[in-house]
Amino acid sequence: MRAVTEVLRSGQVAGGPVVAQFERGMAAYLGVQGGVAVSSGTVALELSLRAMGIGPGDNVILPSYVCSAPWLAVQRVGAQARIVDIDPVTYNLDPQKVRKARTSRTRAVIVPHLFGLPADLTTLQSLGIPLIEDCAQTLGATEQGRPVGRVGLLAVCSFYATKLLCTGEGGMVLSNDEALLERVRALREYDQAPSLDAAAFNCKMTDLQAALGVTQLDQFGDFLDKRAALAAVYHESLPTELFTPPSVPPGRTHAYYRFVVRLQKGLQSPDEFTAYLSRMAHRGLQCRKPVFRPLHRYLELSDFPATDEADALAISLPIYPSLSEDDVRLAAHILQEEFR
Ligand SMILES: Cc1ncc(COP(=O)(O)O)c(C=O)c1O
Repeated sequence: MRAVTEVLRSGQVAGGPVVAQFERGMAAYLGVQGGVAVSSGTVALELSLRAMGIGPGDNVILPSYVCSAPWLAVQRVGAQARIVDIDPVTYNLDPQKVRKARTSRTRAVIVPHLFGLPADLTTLQSLGIPLIEDCAQTLGATEQGRPVGRVGLLAVCSFYATKLLCTGEGGMVLSNDEALLERVRALREYDQAPSLDAAAFNCKMTDLQAALGVTQLDQFGDFLDKRAALAAVYHESLPTELFTPPSVPPGRTHAYYRFVVRLQKGLQSPDEFTAYLSRMAHRGLQCRKPVFRPLHRYLELSDFPATDEADALAISLPIYPSLSEDDVRLAAHILQEEFR
């Protein structure tokens, strides 16, 4: 509150120094050259694709098990999305599916790190296709000792209200490639390029938002520690014969943006699943399907067995830094009581 008030008092609520400070802070945190703050994660994805010169005739690979933002970004630049299945254990992109889906027109892979767990960046990187790391759900986690966001050509963040680090709405594109960042800068604000560019727009972040980002970044390590402690309580309290906890493959760490468990004994039908969720809601425990609707369902594509299984059996349990460990124990208790 103090940081936001200081921005108000400064008289410069937009286009001021705090946005640049937040960009420098995020770039330092990820260990990359620079960042460009924008108005949302979706815009960050779109501008990343545009900065790479991706457009009609190109295709971009992305997983089915993700919100629709990456698909929308690909549509907006006029490219074709090639949707692939996920790894059934980690819920992240399956690199072998990416390898099979690749064509001579594939220009990038959008790699969401879902629920706080890094994707298999090492194998994805070995494919030699430029990676756009979608860090909307994962910051501060590592793969083979490397923080997410540092491996891809570009990384995008979302700072929406429910995210690990939040500014209300907001996003950022980060990279080591200064030329790409310069193009993103030119696209986020009209009148920044020598000629008119129909793709340029106004999608900047305000200094009020950035003030929230700067202060949260200072506390970010504590937020992650708190999430890890709550995750440990879930791990202790949930019987694995009913709920498979999130798996963390060797060489990766988890930021626990979500605590997503898989129901071991599948509820027989989608109706039973919904009834289970509403019984818990009745008792004050909000659990959700972690992905609203997989992309292949919207697009009526078939042969996505791992995504279908995740859609049928995965549940996202409450986890956020201000939650108490006793609340987590209570949640675990209710989950078991209502499972029938
Ligand atoms: C994986 C992923 N990518 C992109 C986005 C889009 O971010 P925003 O809501 O800031 O546009 C989200 C948001 O939920 C997300 O989870």
